[in-house]
Amino acid sequence: MGENISDIIRNRRATPPRFFKGDKIERKVIELLLENASWAPTHKITEPWRFKVYLGESKDHLAGRIFEMLKQNHVFYASVNMQKAEKFTEGMNKVPVAIAIILQRDEAERIPEWEETAAVAMAVQNMWLTATELGLGGFWSTPEFLPLIGNLIDILPSQKLLGFFYVGKVGLEIPSPGRNEISLKTEWYD
Ligand SMILES: Cc1cc2nc3c(=O)[nH]c(=O)nc-3n(C[C@H](O)[C@H](O)[C@H](O)COP(=O)(O)O)c2cc1C
Repeated sequence: MGENISDIIRNRRATPPRFFKGDKIERKVIELLLENASWAPTHKITEPWRFKVYLGESKDHLAGRIFEMLKQNHVFYASVNMQKAEKFTEGMNKVPVAIAIILQRDEAERIPEWEETAAVAMAVQNMWLTATELGLGGFWSTPEFLPLIGNLIDILPSQKLLGFFYVGKVGLEIPSPGRNEISLKTEWYD
């Protein structure tokens, strides 16, 4: 894996769950990811990130509950894309670690939500880069039915579920989709 920050940034991949291996990840490794997450920039040090870590049977149980809830919703309330629901559930079952990414607004809502969301995204990037340095794959799953999942994992009214971050060993490396020349997206005023 990469030696310096530029290599690590370029080596970071979004690894879809089907390419993960199920091997357990040591708790110490997960703790390091979370600690590094908490060093992300945060306006007024609100530290707007909250995490719920799901492993083993708890994770598989959650995946099952999410699928059942989506099925019920589909039948009785709103239409849910059940193909996507199935794919999501399979993914959560496949990966060894699923971390719910939660945005927590501060009580006085001093910071606009977009800034807090940005801070949480930077925390996720810290986890993702740390995983890359350790040779582990990562994936940030944000299915469209995310708002329906909040209740199942006790998300508070002052919180918002921003998805699940998956981390684990990679069975099959996928090639980078690459990026366009940054000069196409940059204007210089020198
Ligand atoms: C906030 C966020 C949410 C994402 N959600 C998904 C997702 O739900 N499904 C997915 O296939 N990829 C998701 N991705 C990953 C992108 O598809 C991926 O970053 C892109 O394909 C570029 O690949 P790379 O990260 O390996 O360079 C997400 C990325 C971000 C930043």
